Amino acid sequence: MALFPKKQNPVQAEADLTRLPRHIAIIMDGNGRWAKKRGLPRTAGHAAGAETFRTIATYCKDIGLEYLTVYAFSSENWRRPEEEIGAIMGLLKKYLLEAISRMERDRVKMEFFGDLSPLTPELRELCERTREISRHYEGCQVNVCLNYGGRDDIVQAARAFALDCAGGRADPNHLTAKQFSGYLYSGNVPDPDLIIRTSGELRLSNFLLWQAAYAEFYITDVLWPDFSREELHRAIAAYQSRDRRFGGV
Ligand code: FPP
Repeated sequence: MALFPKKQNPVQAEADLTRLPRHIAIIMDGNGRWAKKRGLPRTAGHAAGAETFRTIATYCKDIGLEYLTVYAFSSENWRRPEEEIGAIMGLLKKYLLEAISRMERDRVKMEFFGDLSPLTPELRELCERTREISRHYEGCQVNVCLNYGGRDDIVQAARAFALDCAGGRADPNHLTAKQFSGYLYSGNVPDPDLIIRTSGELRLSNFLLWQAAYAEFYITDVLWPDFSREELHRAIAAYQSRDRRFGGV
């Protein structure tokens, strides 16, 4: 497998690609600022951000990453102007249609974390189809967080667990953290090892609150549309230099 396809520059930062984290999660922030700096509408920033997502997701698959999770639309993003929401949903639709048409070639498993019920029936159906077609693929799994909020995730998990208790399928006295994790949107996906946030903001913004318990953080000032394979390597190299103790010594 060619790590650096022709016509692209070799990556410089020193990441050891034989020791990748299993799961990288990304808060793709800064699309609006990227557009503003260029005198463009915010929607142009999202279009550029969607391109970056394609590039990075493909690269993650090529280097053999097991799980990539991205924050595409938060449960709070509905507060944005209607036109901007429409543009993001349009980009998602375009992406999913392309993903479906390339699925046999790419063999990337796609999942969606979040409450998809407020999406249009067309978008919901596309998500469902993408999920269904790719269900049996092994290798890289890309999780797109859509109408996702970390608190909502925990609440829906608690609700599902309570219903299981009421139905006699679970016992509250024997609940463990591992068992509870299985009720989250992420189900059996391992927790993220590395969370990257672009555009320099120092917040988790309701992203994977439970799952982030022992994640390493990498914050870069780079705006999401400018995020590159080199920057990903820097993030991985930073992760590899950390001493993860998980509460031990
Ligand atoms: C944050 O930047 C970005 C979003 C809320 C939307 C992310 C959407 C995409 C990258 C495009 C569609 C996604 C896929 C998976 C095809 P911001 O708008 O908050 O930027 P700002 O903080 O500079 O205003």
